[in-house]
Amino acid sequence: MRLLITGSSGQIGTNLALHCLANGHEVVGLDRRPNTWTDRFETILLDLAVAHPVQGWCLGAVTLPPCDVIVHLAAHAKVHALVERPLGALENHLMVTNALELARVTGTPIVLASSREVYGQQPRDGGPVPESAAVFGASPSPYAAAKLASEALAAAYRGCYGLPYLIFRFSNVYGRYDNDLRRLERVLWIFTRAIRRGEPLTVYGAEKLLDFTYVDDAVDGLWRGIERLVGGTLAGETFNLAYGAGNRLTTLATLIGTVLEQEPRIRIEPSRPGEVTYYVADITRARQRLGYEPRVNLREGVHRALAWAQHWAAAQPPAEQEDYR
Ligand SMILES: NC(=O)c1ccc[n+]([C@@H]2O[C@H](COP(=O)([O-])OP(=O)(O)OC[C@H]3O[C@@H](n4cnc5c(N)ncnc54)[C@H](O)[C@@H]3O)[C@@H](O)[C@H]2O)c1
Repeated sequence: MRLLITGSSGQIGTNLALHCLANGHEVVGLDRRPNTWTDRFETILLDLAVAHPVQGWCLGAVTLPPCDVIVHLAAHAKVHALVERPLGALENHLMVTNALELARVTGTPIVLASSREVYGQQPRDGGPVPESAAVFGASPSPYAAAKLASEALAAAYRGCYGLPYLIFRFSNVYGRYDNDLRRLERVLWIFTRAIRRGEPLTVYGAEKLLDFTYVDDAVDGLWRGIERLVGGTLAGETFNLAYGAGNRLTTLATLIGTVLEQEPRIRIEPSRPGEVTYYVADITRARQRLGYEPRVNLREGVHRALAWAQHWAAAQPPAEQEDYR
């Protein structure tokens, strides 16, 4: 099959695209910036944060090849960045609207990336959070609110136009193609760099308990959904895609320290506005409907991620190696 992947230069997009190629499928990437990790598929450059006219497979100024499925991953993906610049949430919603319009006009099934952020702050004593948990009124941040609005819009497109879609709520995906701190600061790599340099690292919220998902598990779940959506056996559903266990940020720091054989120096600060401090996913639905079974726990995932980063850095020109460790 041929897949159109938006946000294909990002972490999940790059991993998904390479997974698809490895399994004999074709990928058309679309992003506002080139892919810095691989040149194994084409990236069409387009800013999706403006409303583009859609005519067949023409989206604004670009003509796309017809595809069997659209996987919409493009977004401003940092929660805190949109607390500081809430207009970015509107841009996220515009990106989804463009993708849904393309899907509607071409009659193509679509997958949307949502987030565990839509659950906001769920009660700690409530156990793992199922997809049925109440979400309206729970948004802790503009990022979360935009994800929720996107989910609502997808449902509206199904209601009005019969558009087949699936939504995946990701949770703290980490691993390969994610260690470029110049572009996007993610906690695993911020901690790794601080520990390697013997500098103190800051944990915002000592009690914060989050569900970290190794990227191969996330891609596996995504792919299982794509196959069923394109095959016509599943549509109009929302899935939690996570590991299904909670870990503290201090645990993450300790695991990284173990791999690097260096004691982390941890400074505790209160959580920042807009941050969720508890989330463990109930992944029963994904298990039952997709046959999804995450394989990589946090200890193993940290090992794999750091080993990969070491390998990647070593292959870069000497002046750039420090950027990726
Ligand atoms: N990685 C996670 O932990 C996580 C968790 C929950 C949800 N998600 C969601 O999954 C999706 C993919 O996440 P990711 O981790 O790969 O993020 P990422 O930032 O690595 O990739 C997102 C891509 O979208 C592109 N993009 C941003 N604005 C654009 C625009 N205006 N036009 C075209 N492209 C644009 C970026 O250039 C980037 O390559 C996002 O929708 C994100 O919100 C990710």
